[in-house]
Amino acid sequence: MTFDRAAFIKFNTHLAGVPLRPDIKLHLATDATGLWQKTQDELHAANLPLPYWAFAWAGGQALARYLQDHQTLVAGKRVLDLGAGSGLLAIAAAKAGAAHVEACDIDPLAMDAISMNAVANSAVVHLLREDVIGLDRHWDVVLAGDIAYEPDMAERLILWLEQLAHKGTRVLIGDPGRAYLPRDRLHSLAKYEVPVSKCLEDCEMKLTDVWRFKDAM
Ligand SMILES: C[S@@+](CC[C@H](N)C(=O)[O-])C[C@H]1O[C@@H](n2cnc3c(N)ncnc32)[C@H](O)[C@@H]1O
Repeated sequence: MTFDRAAFIKFNTHLAGVPLRPDIKLHLATDATGLWQKTQDELHAANLPLPYWAFAWAGGQALARYLQDHQTLVAGKRVLDLGAGSGLLAIAAAKAGAAHVEACDIDPLAMDAISMNAVANSAVVHLLREDVIGLDRHWDVVLAGDIAYEPDMAERLILWLEQLAHKGTRVLIGDPGRAYLPRDRLHSLAKYEVPVSKCLEDCEMKLTDVWRFKDAM
C-alpha cells in the first residue's frame, strides 16, 4: 500500500501561527501526543522517522524571531535552513528578504511539509533532498534550529557547521540547551522565552538562545 504523504500531513495538522512568529503559519500537529504515537505504526510502517516537521521547535522559534529582529543578516543573501523540519527558518529568511533560500532535511515527509508551509506563507523555498553535510555550496548564511538532540547527528552537523563558520559563512544556531550542544564553543547572541508543546518538552516555556561559533561571524 502506498503512503500518501500530503494526505497524512493534512489529516494530522492544522494551519496555525507560530507562537514567537504569529505572522508565519505552519501545518502544526493538531494532537501532538497522538501524532507522536502514530509514528509507532503508520510512519514506522512507511519507514519514516518521527514527525519533527509537525512542530515549531524552541530553537527554530527563537532563531526565526531573531531574524525578524535582525533582517539585514539574511536580506539579499543565499541562505540554507539545515534540519529544516517544518521549514520555519527557511520561511523566516524568505520573509526577511533573502535572495535565495534552500531547505534541507533527511525526512521525506518534512520535504512535503516544507513545500506546503512555503505555499501557505507565499515564500519561495528550494528543497534540497540530498545529504549536504560536508558540502560547501557557498551559502552566505546557514541557519540551524534545534539540531543538538542526538549525539551522533549533533556531532556530525556541528563539526561541519563550525568548519563553514570558520571559512566565513555566517552560521546561526537556535537551541534551548539540548544535551549535545557544545556551549563552550558557542557565543550567545540573544535569548528568548519560547512557548513550547508541554507533551513534548514537559514544560510550557523554554529559555532559548541564538548562538554563533566563537571567533566566527
Ligand atoms: C528538532 S527538528 C528541528 C526542526 C526545525 N529546524 C525547527 O527548529 O523547528 C530537527 C530536524 O533535523 C532533521 N535532521 C536530522 N539529521 C539531519 C541531517 N543529517 N541533515 C538534515 N536534516 C537532519 C530531522 O529530520 C528534523 O526534521
